[in-house]
Amino acid sequence: MVEYKTVKGLHLKSLIVYYTRTGNTRFVAETIAAEIGADVEEVVDLKKRRGLLGFLIGGKDARQGKETKISPTTKIPNDYELVIFGTPVWAGKPTPAINTYLKKNNLSGTKVAAYFTKSQKNHKLSKKPRCWCRILLGLENS
Ligand SMILES: Cc1cc2nc3c(=O)[nH]c(=O)nc-3n(C[C@H](O)[C@H](O)[C@H](O)COP(=O)(O)O)c2cc1C
Repeated sequence: MVEYKTVKGLHLKSLIVYYTRTGNTRFVAETIAAEIGADVEEVVDLKKRRGLLGFLIGGKDARQGKETKISPTTKIPNDYELVIFGTPVWAGKPTPAINTYLKKNNLSGTKVAAYFTKSQKNHKLSKKPRCWCRILLGLENS
């Protein structure tokens, strides 16, 4: 049973929707979820993204704003007052799996926020998730 806690002074029933290829974005999702008491939904990309070819095609797909095939998801975002999206940055863009999720789900009337993870040049931080967060609390999705 999730206990929904305060997000910046607001009591919001929250869902974190994320895609991860190598685990960083999942780590951040689970950390935020433990802090604010949110539910979590992982979006699974059915296209092969492993290896050099997967990397290159992933970057190309993301740069072009492409969608992909994803596994069925289990949570209904409209059941939540706040949906937080987490995605790695691929070629400067969100990932195809998150593009697909956003296309498939109606978020009108739901507050949305997002965070991004990306590469870090600072090796002192290399053992921590390389996180570039932009919390957009309070942004209404049109
Ligand atoms: C196909 C691909 C493209 C990437 N493009 C960028 C980029 O443009 N800028 C950046 O800072 N990091 C880039 N990265 C690095 C990832 O954003 C970073 O390692 C991220 O934390 C991985 O998250 P994950 O472990 O949840 O998959 C890219 C990684 C992949 C696989």
